[in-house]
Amino acid sequence: KERVFSGVQPTGNLHLGNYLGAIKRFAELQESYECIYCVVDMHAITQDMRVWGGPEELKRCIREVTSAYLAAGIDPAKNIVFNQSQVSGHAELAWVFNCVARLGWLNRMTQFKEKAGKDRENASVGLYAYPTLMAADILLYRATHVPVGEDQKQHIELTRDIAQKFNNDFAASITRLGLGDAALEGGYFPLTEPLIGGPAARVMSLRDGSKKMSKSDPSDLSRINLTDDADAVASKIRKAKTDPEPLPSEADGLKGRPEAENLVGIYAALSGESRESILATFGGGQFSTFKAALVDLAVTRLGPIGGEMKRLVADPGHIDAILRNGAERARVIADETMGQVKDILGFVR
Ligand code: TYM
Repeated sequence: KERVFSGVQPTGNLHLGNYLGAIKRFAELQESYECIYCVVDMHAITQDMRVWGGPEELKRCIREVTSAYLAAGIDPAKNIVFNQSQVSGHAELAWVFNCVARLGWLNRMTQFKEKAGKDRENASVGLYAYPTLMAADILLYRATHVPVGEDQKQHIELTRDIAQKFNNDFAASITRLGLGDAALEGGYFPLTEPLIGGPAARVMSLRDGSKKMSKSDPSDLSRINLTDDADAVASKIRKAKTDPEPLPSEADGLKGRPEAENLVGIYAALSGESRESILATFGGGQFSTFKAALVDLAVTRLGPIGGEMKRLVADPGHIDAILRNGAERARVIADETMGQVKDILGFVR
């Protein structure tokens, strides 16, 4: 059975990259898959409290991510929407995976190197083990597909490696218990496929076309936040870095022009138009004309989402009830997996 799982960290400043690379696509996938969307609050605390802001800010951010899911059109009755900390299987399976994954595998993770920075000795153990918790998120539900932005690709590859090693190491036990899946050559966990793609798999900073748009960039001008009002969106797009050449008439001409490529990609993802047709309209013209059209488009598409988010977070009771209901439904699947995993490992129950 095909099942989608994905998550977003509640660490503030939800931006256009999170929306176009992930949340917008979550909503599209609910038409064709059984979907589980998680607010990964246990991942949020892997960094220093200065990054996640402390208990009150964490609560606010959990509700904000939930409101973004709902505002983007995710239906919490049809899909499961919940926060990670409320289903204990995530932490339990992560521990099992800490014992399956090899140090060498984690040492290759580039996100740890970026987030830990120079002071690696002072990074939390949780930040280092982050990818095994992410693998647990996905495999607890034996999800087959995971929509994410380009930056998460390496973590999905690690998830597949963990699934493969678990299936191999415990092959005899899985077979003895009759828990193997013929479609997985007798394995228990699926080899999850990432769903990465489209014109906005990697939205770049508006100030520097070589850096990705990020929640933690100190410059607010580098990103469009989902809760920005129309004036802020307009001024950020107008100030976005560009090069002095006019826009090319063909997509090939965007090569080596990261800022132009980024803005055209954003336009394509927001409008659903191809880059070719956008350049057929705007190619040869000045950036100012294109930017004015992009402002109109962005305000039209993002305005209602930001407005709906603000309306939803004003009623935390409603959001919390949705999360509680989602956690109850997630727990049913998670408990079944954890019971089987414990049997496979040989834990006496
Ligand atoms: P997070 O919270 O950093 O980002 C949430 C989603 O947004 C995508 N994204 C982007 N896409 C395009 N352009 C960008 N500039 C950009 N910035 C962020 C991310 O790729 C992600 O899809 N580790 C994950 C959270 C996670 C998770 C999971 C995801 C935890 N467990 C299980 C999937 C499945 C993260 O830090 O995402």
